[in-house]
Amino acid sequence: MKQEYQFLSITTKPFVKWAGGKRQLLPIITRNIPEKFERYYEPFLGGGAVFFNLVSQDRKVKWFVSDLNSDLILSYATIRDRVKEIISALEAHAENYFKNPNPYYYKVRENNPKGQIDKVSRLIFLNKTCFNGLYRVNSKGKFNVPLGRYINPNIVNKENLLAISRVLQSKDISIKCQDFEVALKHVGKEDFVYLDPPYQPISTTANFTSYTNGNFDYQDQKRLFEKFKSLDRKGAKVLLSNSKSKEILDLFEEFAEGIIEINANRFINSVSQKRTGHTELLIKNF
Ligand SMILES: C[S@@+](CC[C@H](N)C(=O)[O-])C[C@H]1O[C@@H](n2cnc3c(N)ncnc32)[C@H](O)[C@@H]1O
Repeated sequence: MKQEYQFLSITTKPFVKWAGGKRQLLPIITRNIPEKFERYYEPFLGGGAVFFNLVSQDRKVKWFVSDLNSDLILSYATIRDRVKEIISALEAHAENYFKNPNPYYYKVRENNPKGQIDKVSRLIFLNKTCFNGLYRVNSKGKFNVPLGRYINPNIVNKENLLAISRVLQSKDISIKCQDFEVALKHVGKEDFVYLDPPYQPISTTANFTSYTNGNFDYQDQKRLFEKFKSLDRKGAKVLLSNSKSKEILDLFEEFAEGIIEINANRFINSVSQKRTGHTELLIKNF
């Protein structure tokens, strides 16, 4: 008798909302991802919208994802290794929050837990309940976002957390906390690299760069451009997102043929009038 196999694919999506998250731009980004590659590198992982989309597909590749934000990377590793404990801790947060949102939110925000489960569940809880759902720390590395205006925030997305945990355990995935240059040391010609750095600000008021308590400044954009060129020389396929700013257009002039302009809506600014559409860039070398 003919045996029929059913391959169940697991769909995953980001477990946190992240500044510069790429969920809205996924259709255009995925259209610009090569059909075939051996290894996938994403060294500015953030919420991982592109990674989660790709890893849910049945691609036979090795995955190398990383970010400089250590709390974020700890969260990925903890969801992979201790998902049930994370779910229980989030359920406890949710129960307390719904009893009395305001005082509970600020109490958790003030805490600085040392244990892994407490740290990670706090990060996810604050991300789900804070204003605009963003992770932002001040110059002392302290989370400083006020309470959001959610009526019924989805604090425990159990199904997604379990799916993420399964995917991260079952596939060949390296998750590390490191600078992008270190992350890209061993890229070869059969590989694909997606670069989504903190964007170069377009105007002096649009200077949101505090994903970590270190800034990604113009020198870093130049460092990234040099890395882009060296990956290009190695024969790797590289795709980069950035703002349509004069600095970036000037830096990447020699790749002008591979520049795609896209209209994007960004929901970073807390002033709603500033949430207007603007243009950003996808730059590719293939
Ligand atoms: C635009 S966000 C990435 C958003 C992500 N694509 C998403 O969908 O959520 C940029 C990320 O770069 C990280 N980052 C900042 N400086 C870095 C560095 N020097 N090396 C690696 N990652 C860095 C930040 O922590 C942040 O998560």
